[in-house]
Amino acid sequence: MFKIAVLVSGGGTNLQSIIDSVENEYLNCSIEMVISNREKAYALERAKKKGIKTYVVSKKNCKSCLSDEILKIVDGKVDLIVLAGFLAILEGKIIQKFKNRIVNIHPSLIPAFCGKGMYGVKVHESALEYGVKVSGCTVHFVDEGTDTGPIIVQKTVPVYSSDTPEILQKRILVQEHKALPEAIKLISENKIKVQERKVVTV
Ligand code: GAR
Repeated sequence: MFKIAVLVSGGGTNLQSIIDSVENEYLNCSIEMVISNREKAYALERAKKKGIKTYVVSKKNCKSCLSDEILKIVDGKVDLIVLAGFLAILEGKIIQKFKNRIVNIHPSLIPAFCGKGMYGVKVHESALEYGVKVSGCTVHFVDEGTDTGPIIVQKTVPVYSSDTPEILQKRILVQEHKALPEAIKLISENKIKVQERKVVTV
């Protein structure tokens, strides 16, 4: 069975979409653990309700300690790490050790409105300020940069002049809940590979 670790920081609706996809057998995977960098993340409750092992990691004062701590927990135990609303940056050894085995979901059409400091509602504020007519979400592999790795799945939504950041966020979240399970499915079924910086089907 293909094993995954899900990393979270907040409400965990994306985690829930993975749990649901496993339960309805869209995904043939097992969620081995959920790791949060925030003790109060509601995502942890979602995991506990399903009997999934949870961990809280918080090493704010040391640059790559958080990543090293996570590496210790996941090393040898999972095939894929899924960042599902994980708002800290992974760096150091874990990136190389899990090369093309870490995916992240971001709530914009990368390479727009992404990079350091771009998370949550800020992304949608920037998109509206810029005046884009479409936005969406991106699932990509994680490399040494921030939101720079090869793109696996993107989904678009229209942007309306009456949108607030919160309305746009909700519209995109619906697509996130489809995009993330879809990307996990492609990886777990060995349907894609990375060639240079592009993801191609095999
Ligand atoms: C999601 O919109 C996700 O794309 C975003 O955080 C939210 C988490 O929601 N991630 C980022 O902004 C990463 N840069 P959730 O906790 O309900 O899944």
